[in-house]
Amino acid sequence: MIRDEPLVLGIETSCDETGVGIVRGNTLLADAIASSVDQHARFGGVVPEVASRAHLEAMGPTIERALADAGIALPDVDAFAVTAGPGLPGALMVGVAAAKAYALSLGRPLYGVNHLAAHVCVDQLEHGPLPKPCVALLVSGGHSSLLLVPDVAGDVRSLGSTVDDAAGEAFDKVARVLDLGFPGGPVIDRMARDGDAAAIAFPRGKYRDGTYDFSFSGLKTAVARWVEAKERAGEPVPVADVAASFQEAVVDVLTQKALQVCKDNGVHDLLIGGGVAANSRLRALAAERCEAAGVRLRVPRPKLCTDNGAMVAALGSELAAAGAAPSELSLPADSSLPIEAITL
Ligand code: KG4
Ligand code: ZN
Repeated sequence: MIRDEPLVLGIETSCDETGVGIVRGNTLLADAIASSVDQHARFGGVVPEVASRAHLEAMGPTIERALADAGIALPDVDAFAVTAGPGLPGALMVGVAAAKAYALSLGRPLYGVNHLAAHVCVDQLEHGPLPKPCVALLVSGGHSSLLLVPDVAGDVRSLGSTVDDAAGEAFDKVARVLDLGFPGGPVIDRMARDGDAAAIAFPRGKYRDGTYDFSFSGLKTAVARWVEAKERAGEPVPVADVAASFQEAVVDVLTQKALQVCKDNGVHDLLIGGGVAANSRLRALAAERCEAAGVRLRVPRPKLCTDNGAMVAALGSELAAAGAAPSELSLPADSSLPIEAITL
């Protein structure tokens, strides 16, 4: 760690995690999280108003915890960064308002940053500087995107994204069909280990269709129809086989498209991030296909893959190092912020 690099505090509130991370350069000093996931479980998905209120209650204590973990006091912070979008409007507003208040009261610069670029940048905290360029596959409950990243602080391009459900959303909806609870990803991942991935040929939306886009809503409907037909026939539903076959359909398309982007752009480094990057089968298949294609694979550890404040601090730190101009204090929260806007 270089002492004269700025100490950056990052705030993330785009969905249901209140995250506060503190970094100096590429060194992670604190990564405090408060999640409202339990409050959403009975609804089977994130309820925006519930998430906003939870952020409001968690903000102060999570900041305090991060400062204590890093062993610093608030005035030691040299710059603040906050997720300005994309995400849930009310949830984003809580983080942006808090970050503005801290930056203004301490007279420090504030960087309003893009959530997706932050998901990419976080890997620098674990695996060092990102190769330029690299390709990023971001898969979570809110997004499924393929990005070409010549420079995470200055040039990020969207090549494709989901045209309907996000990959994690498909896991959550299929888990609901199978009565497995919320969030669905971890439990489907677990159940699938005892199932046969080739048992049921579920559709692979947009497979080899010449685009880098994804579609998961047809797959989700196909699983629901298949399960309904079994139940109507009075037959037991082979839950492990359904989970494994569904999971295989998702990760097959994700890895096929990600490697196609690498090939078409002559890029030899692939990064996978977002909550679905925790999926064991996605990690295994990506490793296998990357090896075969001569592509290096980078996947941050699970805690850095899901939404967190460290990723926001990492991007703030990268922007500060690149000499990027800080945001105005009139910075808005932009729920549909395009990926090309790395900072606002
Ligand atoms: O990144 P994240 O914490 O929040 C956002 O949605 O932005 O991702 C949460 C999503 C949920 O949809 C969850 O079901 C999924 O990531 N997920 C997984 C796994 N762990 C979490 N999906 C598949 N396999 C997993 N092991
Ligand atoms: Zn995310």
